Amino acid sequence: MKKVICKNYEEMSREAAKLVAEQIKAKPESILGFATGSSPVGMYKELVRLNKEGEIDFSKITTFNLDEYYPILRSNDQSYYYFMFDNLFSHVNIKKENVNVPNGEVSDPDAECKAYDEKIEAMGGIDLQVLGIGHNGHIGFNEPDEKLIGATHRTGLTESTFHANSGYFEKPEDMPREALTMGLTPIMQAKKIVMVISGKSKAPIVKRMFDGLIGTDCPASVLHMHRDVTVFLDEDAASML
Ligand code: PGA
Repeated sequence: MKKVICKNYEEMSREAAKLVAEQIKAKPESILGFATGSSPVGMYKELVRLNKEGEIDFSKITTFNLDEYYPILRSNDQSYYYFMFDNLFSHVNIKKENVNVPNGEVSDPDAECKAYDEKIEAMGGIDLQVLGIGHNGHIGFNEPDEKLIGATHRTGLTESTFHANSGYFEKPEDMPREALTMGLTPIMQAKKIVMVISGKSKAPIVKRMFDGLIGTDCPASVLHMHRDVTVFLDEDAASML
């Protein structure tokens, strides 16, 4: 795994955006995997700027997001569908029909997950996947557990994730306790992976991820088995390395 340590969040965001922009320029019809959370927000801002300046074109891009709460309405401002339009899709020239986010509104989540994997597969897999990391080492909502799941699936959320995310909801109890998440197979089959990590609170899990041991206690550690991962960290996130 390649490590790029940046001075601060802004530099991390710019550097990560450069890699995504390179991918878009090299292959205008790229399939991009996107993530939510506070980590990639600055990177999305930078991609919006590059699109407005005519540097990158989203008109032929297709996207698959990593995850979504379940159940949740897409109109809920805490849904990841809403987040992606708010932070990126509404501000760039992407076609709405090329945007894929697991649908937290469906009555049959298992069918939704199966169809999601089939669509990714039919499109030839993801060219570049953006990831953050949870304080507990999750990627997407693949939470630490005895066993990890390859396919896209419905999952319960851990206390750590509830603690990290419930503050965004008006009342903590409004946060769904489940989610639909891309499994580790489509993530690991992405041709390229770009990870963004910032802040002191992530330093311990960054240390764990880079210790070289692969274990289900830290789902992100499976990335050691991928050939093309670039991790962009700010100095705070890298402070225990
Ligand atoms: P964060 O979330 O960027 O808001 O810290 C990352 C994650 O949980 O994957």
